[in-house]
Amino acid sequence: TNTYDYLIVGSGLFGAVFAHEATKAGKKCLVIDKREHAGGNVYCKEMEGINVHWYGAHIFHTNDKEIWDYVNQFAEFNRYTNSPVANYKGELYNLPFNMNTFYRLWGTKTPEEAKQKIADQIENLGITEPKNMEEQALKLVGPDIYEKLIKHYTEKQWGRKATELPAFIIKRLPVRFTYDNNYFNDKYQGIPVGGYNKIVEGLLKDVEVRLNTDFFADREVLSSLADKIVFTGKIDEYFGYQFGELEYRSLKFEVETLDQENYQGNAVFNYTDADTPYNRVYEHKHFEFGTQPKTVITKEYPLQGSRGLEPYYPVNDENNSAIVKKYQDLAKAEKNVIFGGRLAEYRYYDMHQVIGSALVKAKRELGVSQEEDVAI
Ligand code: FDA
Repeated sequence: TNTYDYLIVGSGLFGAVFAHEATKAGKKCLVIDKREHAGGNVYCKEMEGINVHWYGAHIFHTNDKEIWDYVNQFAEFNRYTNSPVANYKGELYNLPFNMNTFYRLWGTKTPEEAKQKIADQIENLGITEPKNMEEQALKLVGPDIYEKLIKHYTEKQWGRKATELPAFIIKRLPVRFTYDNNYFNDKYQGIPVGGYNKIVEGLLKDVEVRLNTDFFADREVLSSLADKIVFTGKIDEYFGYQFGELEYRSLKFEVETLDQENYQGNAVFNYTDADTPYNRVYEHKHFEFGTQPKTVITKEYPLQGSRGLEPYYPVNDENNSAIVKKYQDLAKAEKNVIFGGRLAEYRYYDMHQVIGSALVKAKRELGVSQEEDVAI
């Protein structure tokens, strides 16, 4: 018999939650990760006493009490509320679009005035069936908001003209007629005190983890160690890219330590003009109300993905959707392998969603949990 019940490829939230649940159910797990640290994209690196979100800003938010309670087992959450500020050629606007934004744009002071202004903006455009992302956004919020806060940011993000992007990228653009800068509508929100590593450490406390270990560098030997595999890496890579490579958008992060206490006064700034090459600047201490003497910032530059770069955002256009469908058919037929997480499913997942998905798949795989056994 094999040494382990499960070989779990990837120590991101999907792999870590699955490993935790399986271990709790009495299974023996080995988690491997090709990176030098566990946690996948929620990993934080400590610099100047500040938890630096190493793969981009991560704000936890959910409406699901069960998932909120689940993560709260491992860390306490602070009261951080995401309220990004947009910088358009030196003009500052609150996000998401709300009464503060409208006041700054047009001087409107009441919800009625703001609603009228937006209606006037949209009225004369004559767009009924939006043919692309630009028309879709214009139809929803009108030209002022579109030009200053959406167009260039989105074009930088996707590396394509808004007129060449599909309309479905923007389904809705929430506009809020209150003076409320809270980006998310969810009931629960915050940043774990001690950083996301604390959650990952809690999940993997009793689990054997091997870092700097790439599944594909030693596939046969690693596979032979366990009865089953939980795979959270790229699905196209798993199947040898036989139907072609799935396209991703990537990011470059430039991290700087600054010898000043407070650089921008907010955790997240979006640069929504065409000329600034980066889209976002995070100042990490503000995620945790830090009072350290120095500060650490990250500039986030959008990039086209390629095999050498980290894959971040799946490009869910028709071509890629057709390719992923073929890989998914192979995955269904693959015996003793469970595919999960953002790379194996080729879809964008928020943290609460990936945790939810791992819990569902773990439950399905492991049957009733130990606690339920005891209760019976
Ligand atoms: P994840 O990528 O974290 O883990 C996969 C792991 O597998 C990695 O550690 C990788 O090294 C490893 N691996 C891959 N191939 C391997 C191989 N061949 N061998 C060994 N190991 C291998 N969500 C949210 O709720 N709020 C937010 O604010 C944000 N912000 C955000 C910003 C940015 C820039 C991005 C890209 C994403 C977010 N997210 C987010 C989403 C969040 O990052 C995401 O939900 C989880 O990290 C997904 O966890 P996974 O386990 O699926 O993948």
